[in-house]
Amino acid sequence: VDEDTPPRTLSSRSLSAVAEHILSGKAKRIVVMTGAGISTAAGIPDFRSPDTGLYANLASLDLPEPEAVFDLGFFKVNPRPFYVLAKELYPGNYHPTVSHVFVRLLAEKGLLHHLFTQNIDCLEREAGIPADKIIEAHGSFASQRCIECKKEFDAVKMKEFVRNGDVPRCEDETCKGLVKPDIVFFGEQLPRAFFDRRQLAEQADLVLVMGTSLQVHPFAGLVNLAEERVPRVLFNLERVGSMGSQADDVLVLGDCDEGVRKLADELGWREELEAKWREL
Ligand code: APR
Repeated sequence: VDEDTPPRTLSSRSLSAVAEHILSGKAKRIVVMTGAGISTAAGIPDFRSPDTGLYANLASLDLPEPEAVFDLGFFKVNPRPFYVLAKELYPGNYHPTVSHVFVRLLAEKGLLHHLFTQNIDCLEREAGIPADKIIEAHGSFASQRCIECKKEFDAVKMKEFVRNGDVPRCEDETCKGLVKPDIVFFGEQLPRAFFDRRQLAEQADLVLVMGTSLQVHPFAGLVNLAEERVPRVLFNLERVGSMGSQADDVLVLGDCDEGVRKLADELGWREELEAKWREL
């Protein structure tokens, strides 16, 4: 393929080429990278979509800027806006999407090398994707601790606090520090496991990028770790990051569930996909 080949946008040809790559057995180590766009169909707003994104709707919380809701410095001074948001985002009220179930299918067929997600909604786990195949690069609501003494805080009590919109504090009388879910705030390090497992992204023989603006590093850099010749497929409303710049990139622009359904059709997995999604 010569260099000035225009990026191939959605066409059944390119999705059938992706399906062929998978069915031929050439793709055994598929690496998937996801963002909030795969959970919008579950009813969880993403962050940066112009009207519906969280950052467009936090104005009511009089934040200095929207991202402050996830800023550690701001949280220490005023934890309330985060807990208003936590009440809305807290796992348990949402259902995994077709896109989540497609990743589970890849795992069940022994084709999922690893899933890197930026999402904190735990829908990957609820979809039945094996935990050892998931890296929650920005943490999740699954656990919480005192930001001062790091003592873990009880999950049942946490649910209560979040439901009531109250701010939980460390139960150690000598500490009384603020409690925060193990979500990676701006200004915090990503989990150790993210850096330990980056080489899994380098070993990919197919990369699927779904529902992310690729605005936040170091996560966004994952998409450039696979070798040059490895096909990369973007399922996203719009083109993002470096996607589309390599000859073997495939852009499936539009709703990710629809794009995934088209790929499932090309793979002959559509029935299985819909059945598993309905069973959840
Ligand atoms: N189908 C396909 N794409 C979608 C859909 C959909 N149904 N809904 C939204 N999108 C796309 C948006 O167009 C956008 O490109 O998903 C992307 C979501 O981007 P963001 O809102 O920026 O979410 P994300 O990329 O996950 O943000 C990364 O930013 O605030 C931090 O830590 C937070 O993990 C988050 C990180």
